[in-house]
Amino acid sequence: GLTIRSMRRQVLLCISVFFLSSIFGQVSYSINEEMSTASIVGNIAQDLGLDVNKLKSRNARIYSGDKREYIELNKDRGLLLIKERIDREGLCAQTTPCSLHFQIILENPIEFYSIIVEIIDVNDNPPTFEKSEIHFRISESAVTGSKFDLERAVDSDVGINGLQNYLLKPTDHFALKLHNQADGSKNVEMILQKPLDREKNEHMSLILTAVDGGEPQMSGTMQILITVLDANDNAPIFTQPVYKATVAENSPKNTVVTTVSASDADYGSNGRITYSIRNTLDDVRHMFEVNEDGDVKLIGNIDYEKARNYQINVRAIDDGGLTDSCKVIVDVMDVNDNKPLIKVMSKSNLVSEDVKSNTVVTIINIQDQDSDENGRVQCVINENIPFSLKSTTNNFYSLVTDSDLDRERASEYNITVTCSDEGVPSLSSSVTLTLQISDVNDNAPVFEKSSYEAYIVENNTPGLSIFTVKARDADWNQNARVSYILEDSSVNGVPVSSYVSVSADSGVIHAVRSFDYEQIKDFHFRVKAQDGGSPPLSSIASVKILIQDQNDNVPQVLYPVQTGGSLVAEIVPRSAEVGYLVTKVVAVDVDSGQNAWLSYKLQKATDRALFEVGLQNGEIRTVRQVTDKDAVKQRLTVVVEDNGQPSRSATVNVNVAVADSFPEVLSEFTDFTQDKEYNDNLTFYLVLALAVVSFLFITCLVVIISVKICRWRQSRILYQSNLPVIPYYPPRYSDTLGTGTLPHVCNYEVCRTTDSRKSDCKFGRAGSQNVLIMDPSSTGTMQRIQKVRPSPAAVGQCESVSQQTFNSTSHHLGILERERDRRKTHNSDSQVH
Ligand SMILES: *[C@@H]1O[C@H](CO)[C@@H](O)[C@H](O)[C@H]1NC(C)=O
Repeated sequence: GLTIRSMRRQVLLCISVFFLSSIFGQVSYSINEEMSTASIVGNIAQDLGLDVNKLKSRNARIYSGDKREYIELNKDRGLLLIKERIDREGLCAQTTPCSLHFQIILENPIEFYSIIVEIIDVNDNPPTFEKSEIHFRISESAVTGSKFDLERAVDSDVGINGLQNYLLKPTDHFALKLHNQADGSKNVEMILQKPLDREKNEHMSLILTAVDGGEPQMSGTMQILITVLDANDNAPIFTQPVYKATVAENSPKNTVVTTVSASDADYGSNGRITYSIRNTLDDVRHMFEVNEDGDVKLIGNIDYEKARNYQINVRAIDDGGLTDSCKVIVDVMDVNDNKPLIKVMSKSNLVSEDVKSNTVVTIINIQDQDSDENGRVQCVINENIPFSLKSTTNNFYSLVTDSDLDRERASEYNITVTCSDEGVPSLSSSVTLTLQISDVNDNAPVFEKSSYEAYIVENNTPGLSIFTVKARDADWNQNARVSYILEDSSVNGVPVSSYVSVSADSGVIHAVRSFDYEQIKDFHFRVKAQDGGSPPLSSIASVKILIQDQNDNVPQVLYPVQTGGSLVAEIVPRSAEVGYLVTKVVAVDVDSGQNAWLSYKLQKATDRALFEVGLQNGEIRTVRQVTDKDAVKQRLTVVVEDNGQPSRSATVNVNVAVADSFPEVLSEFTDFTQDKEYNDNLTFYLVLALAVVSFLFITCLVVIISVKICRWRQSRILYQSNLPVIPYYPPRYSDTLGTGTLPHVCNYEVCRTTDSRKSDCKFGRAGSQNVLIMDPSSTGTMQRIQKVRPSPAAVGQCESVSQQTFNSTSHHLGILERERDRRKTHNSDSQVH
């Protein structure tokens, strides 16, 4: 460069010389700007061809008008020196070339010399930006190629020292592009080369550097601050694709099941997430909701028994409409909230007492809607009952008998089945079955005693109830209905049925006849009690009837024998001592006990002072010495009396002859003829007998007539109503009639008559539904009630009863002996019949 510069100076010098020669001359210099003061610009004296002394003498000076003087003239050395530092940029700005013009004026003569000093640029200014930083806000969605205008830098230097280039750093996203303008300046643009991502890099800082071409190079920088604006370029993202949760059933509403969470990298509304449940087909939306915080809450009643899990599709959406979804799997936990349900499948609430052990009575089904332990059920029944519960198949139990049943011990069971599950706490429920045990005829009737003894006083009325046997049967109803049957046996060769009868349903034992203690003192028979079961069961009791004595016999005097007109006398010698045993009255009484305990008393005596009778033994003894004054013929009347209540007595006359020889006695006793007293008695009895016979005859007549009328009416009734009068008797009773047991209400109401041919025996009671009319002589009219006619034996029985009655009434009436004979004949008739 120096060489070029000096050449130019040479040229300029030549030109100046030429001008000087023509018009005073012109000199040019060129200097660098910013040279320090007193630096030499040029040797003007030499260049003008003037002597240094002349400069002084001619008063050379610089004239620059009103312009500022940067150059001064040193007259001593003939040099132009820098007076003031020259800044080219201040002097000329961008104008080139930049030069100072001034004149050097000389006097004597006045001469003008034009001086031109060219100022050469020096790189003393860096490029500068107006601002040290600029801001850009760029959306991250800006497309590549987008342009952003940058500010230009300014460099006051010119030429090569002026602004040459720009540099941008870093260059990850942006590149620099320069456009040359028409004025030679450069337009600077920044071009997006790579998409921005706010989510990665929200703020960026770039440095733009402007450089010039000087030596040394200078540069200026500016900071470019870029804020990346958000665009909704990110969808929400759930933290998990699947969430799992468990919730106990029956949890209260608003229980938070789980919390889902989604994040959105975007900013602001682009990152604002709302959650929603997207299930459409099921009822999840009635059961759950999700709030803005992602809490999945219960809003329904959750029931394990209805649904064991739920799949909830939750969607997250940002305000820009981008979405993500996840799945929430909610498992419902079982809670023991269901009681076991007991169903009795087969309800046979009647079971026979003779069922075998292990018989299934009923089947029970258990259901518990809960699961696992909560649904595992155990059942028990109450204790101390003869049943057990057996588990059969799943959830089925059978109730079986585990020992023998006995209706007589327990006729009903309340079986409580209690079932409880294994949940904590356990739930249970129970049902009570009432089981009836039906009866089986497994108990025989049992008599209160195995043997009975009963007493009856003789001379009883026939039909008298003696006593009652009683048997109990533990069974029920028909199986416990006891009937009593007299067992066939004989007493003294006579069937026992002619002695007693047993009322079939009451067990009352009746005497069929009047008993005579003197004939029979006791007898045995057996009564069977039989129940109405099928087959019937029975048991037997033995009965002993003891007949009690009644004082019904007068004492009978055996000695002395009482003959009508015989003259028997005891002879007492006159020499008899006191206490001489004359005779002994001997009497017997067929009764027994007290009734036969006899005592003897002297009732009448010719001489009371002479004899006495031993009270107990009937011995007649003398009381005093017999004297000659005592009559030969002595007559004593001795009363023999038994000890019965009332007592009965007999009298006996004892003739005593007080004599020493038999002829004496004979003479005395010739007038012992018929006793007047005896005759009087006989007359009285005859009259009485006649009266009785008459009365009986009239009575018979009345009875016969009334019976005839009665029978006529009866037959009319039977024919008019075509319904037979059939009283009810259970079939098994029919044979009891044969053994002489009387049917239910056979009363002996009328059983006496004098006329055997017309004898009527009427059983039954007016108003009773069992009517039994018995008339052997009118079989024609009785055909319709044949069934209920008692057997001939019964008729005979009745007859014999009347016989007995008659006997007893006629006991003392020996006079009616003929009548009795007739009856006996009839009796055999009716038995034949
Ligand atoms: C069974 O229960 C019923 C009704 O509670 C009651 O009347 C009856 O006496 C009970 N039976 C037994 C044997 O406990």
